[in-house]
Order: sequence, then structure tokens, then C-alpha cells
Amino acid sequence: MTEAWRPDGEDERRGASGPVKVRVPAKVNLHLGVGPLRRDGYHELNTVYHAISIYDELTARRGDTLTLTMEGEGAGELALDDSNLVMRAAHALAGYAGVLPHARLHLRKQIPLAGGLAGGSADAAATLVACDALWGTGLTRDELAGIAADLGSDVPFLIHGGTALGTGRGEAVSPVLARPTSWYWVVAIADGGLSTPAAYRELDRLREAGTAGPPLGATDALLAALRQRDPRVLAATLGNDLQDAALAMRPALAETLKAGEAAGALAGIVSGSGPTCVFLAENGAHAERIASELTATEVCREARVAHGPVAGARVN
Ligand code: C5P
Repeated sequence: MTEAWRPDGEDERRGASGPVKVRVPAKVNLHLGVGPLRRDGYHELNTVYHAISIYDELTARRGDTLTLTMEGEGAGELALDDSNLVMRAAHALAGYAGVLPHARLHLRKQIPLAGGLAGGSADAAATLVACDALWGTGLTRDELAGIAADLGSDVPFLIHGGTALGTGRGEAVSPVLARPTSWYWVVAIADGGLSTPAAYRELDRLREAGTAGPPLGATDALLAALRQRDPRVLAATLGNDLQDAALAMRPALAETLKAGEAAGALAGIVSGSGPTCVFLAENGAHAERIASELTATEVCREARVAHGPVAGARVN
């Protein structure tokens, strides 16, 4: 940890004087293996995270207090007080580094709320990186990831980005060895969100009732697929244990998945706890065609093309 300092007098020069802009991606889980419910209320996970090119942007400026404003996806729906994950992230970093949590934060959101793309976690990761630069606290990526883990299971991954294995409750991340290939995705965004805790509870219920599909198991096939370049090979290895739960809570998603495959996608899965569905395409042009067709069939609010892997939260 760096020596404590306060953003006043001489020390103010340690931070950035102008605005700090951080861009942070959304994530999908290429493999989301959900194990048993632990005593702490979380499930043991075996997941492969993948950062894709749909971004939120957080700007941090010097201020006399801590304030948050926002525009874009979810503006007007999201509380901007201390319950917001962005505010919690700023307080957590300030507490760790021993500085005053003073900043004017502005969020431009393109990642939908409660969409299964870790938008809230992404914003928390962006806040840690932006305030670290603004306040000149100079934490290492590992220190930031440590603070991130307390904010949410997906937050450490969004600091790192790329493609990474997630274990524990998802907070323990290690990079995956993969070829430098870009994969092309169509991201079908639904109207309204789904609650992540509710999706995990629904999976537990389905498992207890014996009506959930068999658990995914190991990630070996997916990791091997990531070491080659053929999207058809990758398509055969995608999977999500939470998909049955998301479909039980939102049966219309079955139509979205069917429509994506009918439009020529190599595979389609629910992203995280849903309701966003993601489809793997052959390449960028193929993805554009699938996205237009999905938009025309009205099985989703919006279909966007994205590629991955991309970097995690970074100062622009
Ligand atoms: O970690 P995060 O706050 O993002 O998790 C939100 C909720 O999702 C948790 O409160 C829990 O209900 C559920 N969850 C889980 N197992 C995980 C991660 C999340 O049950 N590994």
C-alpha cells in the first residue's frame, strides 16, 4: 500500500489535475459452471470470463465532495447515492488508501442494467481505476483487484479484462492462454433485467426438483477451443448452468435463442444470469447480418455486434 496522503496542499499535485476518463467493457461467460451453494450465500463457480467491446465510460474530476451523475442506459432508474456500486467503489478505495473520497464522477452507460453483462461491476472497476489516477494513490492492479473482490464477484475480472478463468465465487481470476484471435458476437439485449440472486435461487430450486440440466463440468474443451482459430470449434464448447434458470424466469428467451440460430449464429447462450443472449458469428460481417435479422424479428430490444477479447478498465 502507498503512504497515506490527503488531497490538499502540496500533495494535491500527486493526482491528475484534469479529468480522468476510463473505459470499461462488458463481460460474457463463455462457460459458467455453477457448483453448490456455500455457507456464505455464494455458489462455487468454475467460469471463463470474456470481455467484449460494449463499453461504459466513467469520468472522474476533482471536487469538494463525492458526487455521481449519469447518462445513457438506465439513466433515471439507477440510484446515484451511496448505495450505487460506483459510490461504494470510490469510498472503498479512499478508505484503503487513506485519502478523502472527493471527486465528481460522471458515468456514460451503454451496458444495460441487470442484463447479465456485469454492467454494475464494470462501473465499479472503472471507478477504482479512475479514482486511483485522479487521487494519485498508485495502487497495483493486484491491490485494486483485492478491493474489487469485496465489491462484487465479477469486479476483479473487469479490472483485468481479456479472457480469464474465474474460480471461488468468481473473484479469483487468472488469464487464459489463448491465440490472439478476435471472436465476433451478437449481443441481443432484452427489455428489462433479471435479478442475479433470483437466477441463482431458481437454479438451486430446479436442481432440488431434479429438473435442471446436468452441470457443465470442466472447462478443458473450451480452453482448448480458445487456443485455435475456428469459431465452429468454439461454438460447440459454450455453456451456461444458469441458462435453465433464466429460461424458467423468462420463457420468451427461448424464442430469442431460436431466432439467433435461425439467423445463422454458430451458437447462442444466455449471458450470465440473463436476460441478454449472446451469439457467436463466423466474423464481423456475419455478425452484422445476424444482428439485422434479430432486430427485424423483434425478439429483443436491440442487437449489437461486439468483438472480444478486449482489455479491462483502462484510462483513455
Ligand atoms: O458478487 P455479487 O454481489 O455480484 O453477487 C450478487 C449475487 O449473486 C449474490 O448475492 C448471490 O446471490 C449471487 N451469486 C452467487 N454465487 C456467486 C456469485 C453471485 O450465488 N458465485
